[in-house]
Amino acid sequence: MNIQLLNQNISDAKSDISLVYVTAELLKKSKNKKALKLAGFSASQDSICFLHNKNTLVCGVDSFEGDDIRSVSSVAIKALKKTNYKSANVAIDDKALIFALVEGFVLGGYTYDVYKSKKEKSSLKNISIIYTKDDYKSAIKLFSDAVIVADATCFTRDIVNTTPEDLNPVTFAALAKKLAKENKLGCKILDEKGLKKENCTSMLAVGRASRHESQLIHLTYKPKNPKKVISLIGKGLTYDSGGLSLKPGASMVTMKMDKAGACAVLGMIKAASEMKLDVEIHAFVGAVENMIGGDAYKPDDVLVSRSGKTIEVRNTDAEGRLVLADVLDFAQDKVNADYIFDFATLTGACMVAVGQYTTGVMGHSSRLKHAVGKSAKASGELTASLPFNKHLKKQIKSEIADICNISNKPYGGAITAGLFLDAFIKEENKEKWLHFDIAGSAYTESPWDCNVYGGTGAGVRFMSEFLKTL
Ligand code: BES
Ligand code: ZN
Ligand code: ZN
Repeated sequence: MNIQLLNQNISDAKSDISLVYVTAELLKKSKNKKALKLAGFSASQDSICFLHNKNTLVCGVDSFEGDDIRSVSSVAIKALKKTNYKSANVAIDDKALIFALVEGFVLGGYTYDVYKSKKEKSSLKNISIIYTKDDYKSAIKLFSDAVIVADATCFTRDIVNTTPEDLNPVTFAALAKKLAKENKLGCKILDEKGLKKENCTSMLAVGRASRHESQLIHLTYKPKNPKKVISLIGKGLTYDSGGLSLKPGASMVTMKMDKAGACAVLGMIKAASEMKLDVEIHAFVGAVENMIGGDAYKPDDVLVSRSGKTIEVRNTDAEGRLVLADVLDFAQDKVNADYIFDFATLTGACMVAVGQYTTGVMGHSSRLKHAVGKSAKASGELTASLPFNKHLKKQIKSEIADICNISNKPYGGAITAGLFLDAFIKEENKEKWLHFDIAGSAYTESPWDCNVYGGTGAGVRFMSEFLKTL
């Protein structure tokens, strides 16, 4: 499906069908009021009604805010894809809605059919957003950025949705290499030999029972005069079986998504490089598979992390933090960044705390949390801040090592995981770092907003928005 922005009069627009957005208030004044009433349409949010004899698709919204427009546009595109219309258009006079429309159409219309032998075909080939005002130049920049971010989100979704056999640490590294080549990024990859040289013992322990070698991937986007330097770190568990602390069968299903943080940071660097942002970006990915076997790491092991800190393992299912401990340490040694952000499907506890739709944000700098929260709001992604405190920090003390990989109490699991990562952030970087727990927001088995079954691409939209503000 092709999406374009046009600058013309609505009367000149040629499409098979036009989308019209109405609130309940506007519906009262509609010339199609009678027909819509007969159809049972009351313009409630996310309801749609085809008026085929008028070549119109009426879309109900609570308001003309981006969130409402994006949401109903996702419903509309799914319905349109099932019809025989070949082209559709929508006219707007507010360029602030361009992002919402593009995301609604591209993300809401996303499907993943790689493993289907029969692909569903759609007649819909073209969708045009008609901008009726004069300042087309600024509108086209907004439009092209929106398409880049939406495409990067789909790119992230595609990788998340790929099966653990097809997307293992080694094929993940190959995919990152391909992205680097296509987008002219720097690319360095450490295999297990390289990881040993770098003393990434904690990360290596997690991947030891896998038949695929663990990989540390480092991609770089370096514009000429960057305003800021950013390190993005992603948890890339291509599969999380739980290890010897094996997950129950039902909880293991969907654990291909445990690489979503890594997939998101690839999406972010892709978007930033395509938008040609003035920020230097380093994406670090720890790609590892957490499996069982005679060679598996064990509860009771003590690991010496790259930083030198020793970690008591009490649960091999709390593996993401063991991988991130080394990758965070590596990233801080290699790059002197202004901001360090990590993205990880780290804890089920985060979903319990904030729900399935929201990304948990942790860190020491209220100012930075506020700035990122503002970008998230503008992007339409949901985030919530989870506060650290000194009492929770005591819960990850160990009797025999420097720190324990699980908490000794059942509450505050998302925060104690964040505090575990904090132990691997150097003193001088404390205020520069934020941790994003995307365990809930990265994957869905039922559609919501512009998300469909599978990976959502969580993080890509809000981080792209934040990077633009720099
Ligand atoms: N990858 C999981 C977290 C997760 C759970 C992500 C559900 C998405 C959906 C992580 O590695 C894990 O297993 N965490 C444990 C930690 C516990 C052992 C302290 C958890 O959340 O149960
Ligand atoms: Zn786990
Ligand atoms: Zn995990």
